[in-house]
This record gives sequence, C-alpha cells and structure tokens, in this order.
Amino acid sequence: MTERKNSFQEINRELLDFLDSSPTSFHAVANMEELLRQAGFNRLLEGEVWKLQKGGGYYVTRNDSSLIAFRIPESDFAGFQIMASHSDSPALKIKDNAEIQVEKQYVKLNVEKYGGLLCAPWLDRPLSVAGRIVVRTDCGVATRLVNVDRDLLIIPNLAIHMNRKANEGYEFNGQKDMLPLFGGKEAKEGFLKLIAETAGVKTEDILDTDLFLYNRMKGTVLGLNGEFLAAPRLDDLQCVFASLKGLLAAKPKRSVAIHCVLDNEEVGSGTKQGADSTFLRDVLHRINRAMGRGEEEYLMALASSFMVSADNAHSIHPNQPDKADPTNRPFMNEGIVIKYSANQKYTTDAVSGAIFKSICQYANVPCQVFFNRSDMIGGSTLGNISNSQVALNTVDIGLPQLAMHSCYETAGAKDTAYLIRAAQALYSSTVCGTGNGEYQVEWE
Ligand code: CO
Repeated sequence: MTERKNSFQEINRELLDFLDSSPTSFHAVANMEELLRQAGFNRLLEGEVWKLQKGGGYYVTRNDSSLIAFRIPESDFAGFQIMASHSDSPALKIKDNAEIQVEKQYVKLNVEKYGGLLCAPWLDRPLSVAGRIVVRTDCGVATRLVNVDRDLLIIPNLAIHMNRKANEGYEFNGQKDMLPLFGGKEAKEGFLKLIAETAGVKTEDILDTDLFLYNRMKGTVLGLNGEFLAAPRLDDLQCVFASLKGLLAAKPKRSVAIHCVLDNEEVGSGTKQGADSTFLRDVLHRINRAMGRGEEEYLMALASSFMVSADNAHSIHPNQPDKADPTNRPFMNEGIVIKYSANQKYTTDAVSGAIFKSICQYANVPCQVFFNRSDMIGGSTLGNISNSQVALNTVDIGLPQLAMHSCYETAGAKDTAYLIRAAQALYSSTVCGTGNGEYQVEWE
C-alpha cells in the first residue's frame, strides 16, 4: 500500500514539474521533445525525407506547438493505436504595441482572451509572460522560446467600496478589466526590452511575438491525505503527460503506437497544427509509405486502428453537485471518465466505449462515465474534429477535474497513474477490425 502511495507521489511530482515548466504550448512541446530524446526517440522534420526502421521511436513537431511521437513495432503492423490530447490552455495573449500608459503613472499591457477562460481567477495574483518570439537572422527569421520566469504582472480587482455589487455577479470586459499592470512611470518602453533581454537578442531584431500571460502559482498536492492536485493547465497537460509516459513504457507488438498532441483545441482546432488540420493524417500516411506500404494497405490499417481522444472531464462539484447528470456521477480518484453525448459532441459510441472499457480492464484501471445533464449543452473536444481528417474508431475520455478553464484547476492525485497504465495498455495492444462488427483486441 505504501509502495502504491509512493508511486502516486512520484508520478505527481513529475507531473507538477512538467506543468510548472510548461507555461505555454510551445514549452510543453519543448519539454516533451527533451523527454523523448532522453528515451532514444529520433527527431523527424516535415521538410525532409523520412527513413523509418522497425522497432524505431520518432517524433515530429508542427509550429513548435503540436507534436506527434510514435514507435514502430519490430514486426509488420496491423494498424495505429493513437492517443490524442491538446497542448494549449485558455489564457490572455499579449497584443502588439502592448504598452498603455495611465495618467503617466502606470504602464499596463494590452491583452486579448485566448479560448474560453474563467476571468476571475486571473485577478490579484502574480503573473508572468512566456511564449515564443520570431527574430531576424542572417538568412531569414527564426523562432525562440521565452519565459520571463519571475513575478512580473498583476491584474488588480476593483475594491468592493467602488463596486458594492461585486459579489452579486460581475460581467468582465476583456478590453477593460483584464489588462495587467506592468510597472510605474519608469516602465515605459520596457516591455519589448525585457523580452529581448530574456531571449538574449536585440530588441530591433524581434519581428513578431506569440506571448501569453501565465499564473506564477506552482502546482501542489492538497487534501487531508493528499487526495488532490491543484495546478495551472491540468486541462489538458495532465492527459498529455500521461499519454507520453504511457508511450515511453509501451512495447507495441502489432500496431504503431502514436502519441499525438495538438494545439489550438481551445479555439476550435482550425489551425495548421490543430485537430482539424492534416497533421495527424500526414504523419500516418508518411509512416505507411516509409514502411513500404501502399494506399490500399493504409486504408486497411485504418480499419484496424483505434484512437483515444484524451481531454479532461468534469468531476462532481462539492458545492454544486446538481450541475451534473443524475445517474452518471464521475468523481476525482475514481478513475478515467468515458464521455458520451447523443449529439456526438463526443465520439464515443457503444463499440468504442466497449473497446476502451476492455483496455481499462486489462490495465486493471477503474473507469466511470460522463453525460451532460439533458438540459445543458456542455463542452466539446478534439476527437470528432480529428475524425473529419482521419476517420477511425474513437472514444472520448478524460481525467475528472474541477474548475476547468480556471488558471488554477483541481484534479485527483490517483488519476494520472490510472491514465498512464491505460495509455501503456492502449499503445501495446492492437484492435483488429474488418468492418463486419467484430473486433479482435490483442495485447502485447
Ligand atoms: Co481540454
């Protein structure tokens, strides 16, 4: 039992380190690349010829913010076993010409909302800036990661004395209420200089930026018995981390194991690196071709493939238990959540749900079920969007959490380990189907 608890604690420590060092999707991808390199995976570039070998591990990135890593089995493969998650989280993005002076006393920064964030949690806490910049080089332009990595900004609330109705519900205005204070009068023209200094480049060489605010509060374990984790960006870096750890532990035997992390889920996935792009499809095609196989074999492989779309789910809220479906009650630490929606906002159907349940059973991992209340619309995710590009049997799942899209979310201390085990089982298995209604699930 103690050993069990220790392994949870170790996984959570690693997860929290990953979250703390991944303030943006660009950093999450860079950190994954580092872990993959350490595990002997080879980098591929989209602009070069791919030479792949049986038994090899590889990864490729797009836009520095999406990443696909895969391992090819030693023998000929039947299909692809995929887990897809997303690298981005809702945040505030810094606009060009960001500095705004207030009565020559303050400098604040102009920002806009990225995704469907909860605004209130961003106020009254230390924030910083991270992302990427694009600089001029001798032969063109090049991207650089930046993280200012110190307490730098704050978005102050208005005192209750000036808005007596503040506790009766407040409508946040994105152009007025969400701008962070950067400094006093001396701070004028200091923002780009700070970014240039941090990146080690000249201010005049910065041609463009993708910079975001992030919460400085580090992730932590809490609850009487350490039952919970609280941290920024659990949606969806908790699934990203579990999927990667599962891939690193897996031994694919008859399928190519594919860890797929896509950007821009929070803004509809419609970018060149999002779930509605050709990224995953291109990678599957190139693997197929590099292994000497034709189009017919590619389509046959898709029939023997399975995808898990892993994006965090809602746990029952302790103060609002009636906001959830009356008979399907997911709780933190009770296992992986399978998500269903009659309107197919989630891809899960009886077949993909059943196959995923058998994977969880094999991995000895508990699973539970989520439905929206029938009078609520709920959210969406990347599974069905990805299916419009690569159509294959897909299930939507996630880890149960609270306060989704806050800049500090809460999840269960046991659930990451469950998803790692399920991911390892997925990546080591093969789901053979011909389209006749029967599916053979083979384990390593
Ligand atoms: Co999500």
